[in-house]
Amino acid sequence: MLGQLLIPFATLLALASSYVVNNGTKCYIYPESLTHFGQPVDDTPSVVQAFELCGTNGTVIFTNHTFHIDQVMNTTNLANCDVEIQGELLWSTNVPYWLSHSINVGLQNQSTAWLFGGTNVTMTGGGSFNGNGQTWYTENRNNSNQPGRPISITFFNATNLFVDSISFIQPQFWATFVTYCTNVTMTNIYVNATSNDGSLTDNTDGSDTWNSRDIYMANWTVQNGDDCIAAKGNTTNLHVKNATCIGGAGMTIGSVGQYPTMPDYNEDTLFEDVRVIDSYDGGYIKTWQGVYQSATGNGDGGGGGSGIIRNITFRNFHVTNVDLPIQISQCIYSETLGADTCDTSKMNISDVTFENFTGTSKYNIAASLHCADVHHCPGVYFKNVNITSVNATLGLPLYNTTLQEEVYQCANIVNQNTTSGIPCNHWAPDNYGQAPSANVQ
Ligand SMILES: *[C@@H]1O[C@H](CO)[C@@H](O)[C@H](O)[C@H]1NC(C)=O
Ligand SMILES: *[C@@H]1O[C@H](CO)[C@@H](O)[C@H](O)[C@H]1NC(C)=O
Ligand SMILES: *[C@@H]1O[C@H](CO)[C@@H](O)[C@H](O)[C@H]1NC(C)=O
Ligand SMILES: *[C@@H]1O[C@H](CO)[C@@H](O)[C@H](O)[C@H]1NC(C)=O
Ligand SMILES: *[C@@H]1O[C@H](CO)[C@@H](O)[C@H](O)[C@H]1NC(C)=O
Ligand SMILES: *[C@@H]1O[C@H](CO)[C@@H](O)[C@H](O)[C@H]1NC(C)=O
Ligand SMILES: *[C@@H]1O[C@H](CO)[C@@H](O)[C@H](O)[C@H]1NC(C)=O
Ligand SMILES: *[C@@H]1O[C@H](CO)[C@@H](O)[C@H](O)[C@H]1NC(C)=O
Ligand SMILES: *[C@@H]1O[C@H](CO)[C@@H](O)[C@H](O)[C@H]1NC(C)=O
Ligand SMILES: *[C@@H]1O[C@H](CO)[C@@H](O)[C@H](O)[C@H]1NC(C)=O
Ligand SMILES: *[C@@H]1O[C@H](CO)[C@@H](O)[C@H](O)[C@H]1NC(C)=O
Ligand SMILES: *[C@@H]1O[C@H](CO)[C@@H](O)[C@H](O)[C@H]1NC(C)=O
Repeated sequence: MLGQLLIPFATLLALASSYVVNNGTKCYIYPESLTHFGQPVDDTPSVVQAFELCGTNGTVIFTNHTFHIDQVMNTTNLANCDVEIQGELLWSTNVPYWLSHSINVGLQNQSTAWLFGGTNVTMTGGGSFNGNGQTWYTENRNNSNQPGRPISITFFNATNLFVDSISFIQPQFWATFVTYCTNVTMTNIYVNATSNDGSLTDNTDGSDTWNSRDIYMANWTVQNGDDCIAAKGNTTNLHVKNATCIGGAGMTIGSVGQYPTMPDYNEDTLFEDVRVIDSYDGGYIKTWQGVYQSATGNGDGGGGGSGIIRNITFRNFHVTNVDLPIQISQCIYSETLGADTCDTSKMNISDVTFENFTGTSKYNIAASLHCADVHHCPGVYFKNVNITSVNATLGLPLYNTTLQEEVYQCANIVNQNTTSGIPCNHWAPDNYGQAPSANVQ
């Protein structure tokens, strides 16, 4: 196939063929469909070739066309490489192929369609990733993490990575994953996973970070069905600024504490200037319980992992119609155990501030904070948290409950009734799921 060849530009004009055009340090990629009467042809070989030619000290340009991506890609170990995405990358919906070929990323049973990394790398251009996710939302309906359902792109082993002005339309699973990276900036990012057939878009996280540090994410808009941005284990110094999160699960630390042999350390994270709309959660911390459980509501087993969550700030949040605006749970997936396991968690949480929260809760509850009895949480503070239920703002009664005041549940917070600033008025239960589905009694 011509796409496999390196074609000099002059020849190319003559052939008017599909290609990677290599001019000096620049590689321009054009889709095969241009020379196949618009018929979709796999462009993966051209993309891989462009990175082989221009992945070190070069520039890879996806011209303003639609590229068909039918195979997994591994473009790691790039160096001083600028990637410019002008057009759209459109992933195939060959579910059996992806389920058996997606590249394992080392966390849980997750895998990815594109493994991408290197040193001094940029990805910019205003173009988009289209995961053709509807196929996945329908195929994996009512299920959770599905082994092989691919993360659109995983930034792996990247140092000094700059990603700007990229859209993720209908991601197959998580839109992005940042793992084993240092010094990552991701700005002006748009993610939209919306199902058109009534199925949910579970697991379409905007981004997850793991074993990475010094990350700045700003100007994000995410409409999805799960975490907006989630800091998973060993995330240090993540700073999220200016994000709008619609329909998902808000800003998250976790879940962590899943594996007894792999402790999780999550420190120095700041989420600020965030709007959360019609979502399950606003700002929350979720850990696994301290005892191992083989089957969970998450479709995955775990628990018993130890570690530390420290110095986390959620600041300047405006929530609109959010099921549970503020939550700390230490047994997020143990509902199915039906017993008290929250108090066993081996994850130690400390120094967490929720500051300047305004807006509306969907039910009569603003916050539920349950720390493990084996390790009460010191340094948890509320500063200027003012949330009102939607019904109360409309002057309507709160149905099916005798509690007509906004509920703030606390359990095992050090100084919860003195200096914490939390207006605790109820005990936080130890069997809370990810969000309530009715007013609390
Ligand atoms: C190749 O790049 C050089 C500058 O680096 C430019 O002058 C030249 O026009 C380019 N050639 C083509 C065919 O685009
Ligand atoms: C890339 O550029 C660096 C710095 O200019 C240089 O040291 C290195 O040899 C170059 N690598 C290649 C493969 O050209
Ligand atoms: C990805 O490619 C690199 C070479 O650049 C190789 O070392 C690595 O094993 C590959 N990873 C996977 C998961 O295929
Ligand atoms: C790609 O072309 C379309 C028109 O076909 C234009 O609207 C869009 O802005 C272009 N994108 C980029 C990144 O140049
Ligand atoms: C990355 O960029 C820094 C700063 O410009 C430079 O010192 C370093 O050599 C670059 N790394 C590589 C692998 O080229
Ligand atoms: C990670 O990147 C470094 C360059 O910074 C490279 O030397 C190393 O081989 C990479 N590791 C893997 C597993 O790809
Ligand atoms: C971090 O990455 C940015 C590119 O996003 C680069 O400009 C900066 O020099 C890097 N910082 C360090 C300390 O290398
Ligand atoms: C996401 O996509 C849906 C369907 O196309 C659209 O209705 C919605 O407005 C989009 N959300 C955002 C935030 O752009
Ligand atoms: C965020 O968006 C605003 C408005 O477009 C822009 O002025 C600002 O530079 C952006 N911030 C970043 C970090 O890109
Ligand atoms: C926040 O980000 C949005 C894009 O998501 C942008 O339109 C807006 O201007 C940004 N606001 C600021 C203050 O940078
Ligand atoms: C976190 O990092 C520590 C070492 O600092 C390591 O022992 C542990 O396995 C890592 N945890 C995960 C979940 O990768
Ligand atoms: C807490 O984290 C912030 C970054 O969010 C950092 O600036 C600050 O120094 C950290 N404080 C402590 C006491 O570690």
